[in-house]
Amino acid sequence: MSDLKKPSDPKKLFIKTYGCQMNVYDSERMAESLGTKGYVTTDTADDADMILLNTCHIREKAAEKIYSELGRLKPLKAKNPDLKIGVAGCVAQAEGAEIMTRQPMVDLVVGPQSYHRLPQMEDALARGETALDTDFPEDDKFETLKSRPKAKRGPTAFLTVQEGCDKFCAFCVVPYTRGSEVSRPADRIIREAQELVEVGVREITLLGQNVNAYHGHDGGLAGLIWDLDKVDGLERSRFTTSHPNDMDDALIDAHGTCDKLMPYLHLPVQSGSDKTLKAMNRKHTREQYFKLIERIRAARPDLLLSGDFIVGFPGETEADFEDTMDLVRTVGYGQAYSFKYSTRPGTPAAERAQVDEDVKLDRLHRLQALLSEQQYEIQKSMIGRTVKVLFEKNGREPGQMIGKSEYLHAVFANTTDVSIGDLRDVRIVKSERNSLGGEIV
Ligand code: 5AD
Ligand code: SF4
Repeated sequence: MSDLKKPSDPKKLFIKTYGCQMNVYDSERMAESLGTKGYVTTDTADDADMILLNTCHIREKAAEKIYSELGRLKPLKAKNPDLKIGVAGCVAQAEGAEIMTRQPMVDLVVGPQSYHRLPQMEDALARGETALDTDFPEDDKFETLKSRPKAKRGPTAFLTVQEGCDKFCAFCVVPYTRGSEVSRPADRIIREAQELVEVGVREITLLGQNVNAYHGHDGGLAGLIWDLDKVDGLERSRFTTSHPNDMDDALIDAHGTCDKLMPYLHLPVQSGSDKTLKAMNRKHTREQYFKLIERIRAARPDLLLSGDFIVGFPGETEADFEDTMDLVRTVGYGQAYSFKYSTRPGTPAAERAQVDEDVKLDRLHRLQALLSEQQYEIQKSMIGRTVKVLFEKNGREPGQMIGKSEYLHAVFANTTDVSIGDLRDVRIVKSERNSLGGEIV
């Protein structure tokens, strides 16, 4: 067999995605966009004609990690000089042309707002040129992208409805890398949701850096959720990630009244100390957060809360950290992400006196121990309950299927009469470290 390629062979695209769900969505759309130039996606870098790194810049050393990854790709480029290498996402936005200067084998650099221009950029690459685009263009990338492909897909999908952030938390690069808040018009989102449902999607997670500030609908995010509720064939909706100050009454109410909206909410608080919250520019107090949680739980008592926490923010004392631990004990999280504060050049907190690295690490371990204990306890409390599971894939063992409950717990069941995409009642019988086991009822 010859390994020479025929001119008619599709070109292979390998995308490596870092960071948040919004990057997962962007990677899908980039693949679709390059599909117009004859690319199909592949799971390995080894046989790719183009490799795209879709990067994240939220924490330290992000750019350094990308440069090391590029270094690892060097042998592939040496083996195949026609291989095109691109950097996309927030590191591309932040570093721009510097990437090509430091790593001349990079052919393409594209920011998160410009990837609808990938087909033209690919033309430039085909001419032997390099391509760089980190604009915040006037044209709306979502409008320029073609509609979603008709191929059948899995039962869950992400759908970006809002990008950027105007909150300027003192630690965060998002307002700089992703720009100010922009919302997509509701009718376009609903059309995209319908297209997704037509190819097998039953659950949609609406995405935005600050999704509950969505203003592409007169009724805000709640209005969009109610429109989505009317999409036939769509069974479930979720949204992430939210700022406490944008949880308006209509959205809280929707949690109690909209059956398709799942009882799960990611509502980061970052710290439990009023002094730290102020220094972070979060613009609310711990008491206001408690009051908000009370109102949300009054609307939907079984709602499972998730959060993000930062430890070792500049100026955080042991007492401030204890306030965070206390807040966690008071609220009770079913799921949470916690991070050591990471200095981001250009953000206000980067200029302040920093907490020692070993203090940060010690606090992170203590917080994570508490959060995992809570997560595990809440998971265990599901035993004996019947939940609704949307089955997504086959399990590792034969005859096993895995899906997610309304609370986003991974649930596995041994069954032969369930297909991917089915929604079934499952009685939980056991709790393992990161999943629940159940029986179909
Ligand atoms: N250091 C540590 N964590 C950060 N996050 C954002 N910026 C930083 C930073 N500089 C965390 C926040 C945010 C999540 C997406 O990432 O907790 O909610
Ligand atoms: Fe960053 Fe979220 Fe704060 Fe916006 S609200 S600045 S995205 S942490």
